[in-house]
Amino acid sequence: MTHLEASEYDLLLLDFEMPHLSGLEVTTLVREKFSSHELPIIIITGSQNIENRNQVLSGGANDYVNKPIDPVEVALRVKNLLSISESYKLQRRLNDELELRVAQRTAELERFTESLINRLSMAGELRDNETGQHVIRVGQYARVLAEEIGLPSELVYMIEKTAPMHDIGKIGIPDSILHKQGRLTEEEREVMNGHTLYGSQLLGDDPSMLIQMAQSIAASHHEKWDGSGYCKGLSGESIPIEGRITAIADVFDALTMERPYKKPWPLDDAIKYISDEAGTSFDPTLVEVFNKNIDRFLAVKEKYSD
Ligand SMILES: [Fe+2]
Ligand SMILES: [Fe+2]
Repeated sequence: MTHLEASEYDLLLLDFEMPHLSGLEVTTLVREKFSSHELPIIIITGSQNIENRNQVLSGGANDYVNKPIDPVEVALRVKNLLSISESYKLQRRLNDELELRVAQRTAELERFTESLINRLSMAGELRDNETGQHVIRVGQYARVLAEEIGLPSELVYMIEKTAPMHDIGKIGIPDSILHKQGRLTEEEREVMNGHTLYGSQLLGDDPSMLIQMAQSIAASHHEKWDGSGYCKGLSGESIPIEGRITAIADVFDALTMERPYKKPWPLDDAIKYISDEAGTSFDPTLVEVFNKNIDRFLAVKEKYSD
């Protein structure tokens, strides 16, 4: 068999009765490695017994010839089998090449999509004096929560990739409000809260599942479990799960990182704040999951520090 694998045989002609292994036994062994298209087998048999011939064909041989052999008949049968096998091999080579090209294109498209999402996410945050690391951390925290509540891996992936776009709507907020030192007036606060609507409009009505997920997160990441959030005032489980997840991820990062106007909160205070907000701001089940996975959150914080 190693000999067969090492050399390029196009076809095997075997005698039904051979010393050591019979033609049928060799056929059985060959068929474990090579299909009848890859390596056709013709068995030469002296037996006129129909049962023997059927055994040969059902055992994996492509064809048989009777002894005494007619050289012309053998040559014709060999030629037929070789041409079938050749076209099969050609087709397979074409398929392999096509698959490879499709895989390369898909990988390229995925890289492109990911880069574009990352850069677009940063566009919103850079206007808000955030670093690029903030959006990555939010994506990673969101992944931890999505994974730990047992969402399917496809959804986990989508949430991780699109949670970073939560504040993309800040592109539409005037500098005078976005960069205002000190407290916002009630009117300014209203305008600021509009970043959820801008984000949702910017990403709206797209057939791409990823963009739809991004839109849902942009619209719902400031909703609160008790219904006191914005932009729709949704409550409980009517807030999309991706929005509930991103809310915790975003607030945890905002609390624990330094911003131009504030020092980072001590970790215990941040954890306590999120725990206290279970059932008011945040989904209590998610807060529980958050508390059980603080170590995973800390690993993300460590890995993507500013
Ligand atoms: Fe936001
Ligand atoms: Fe944010």
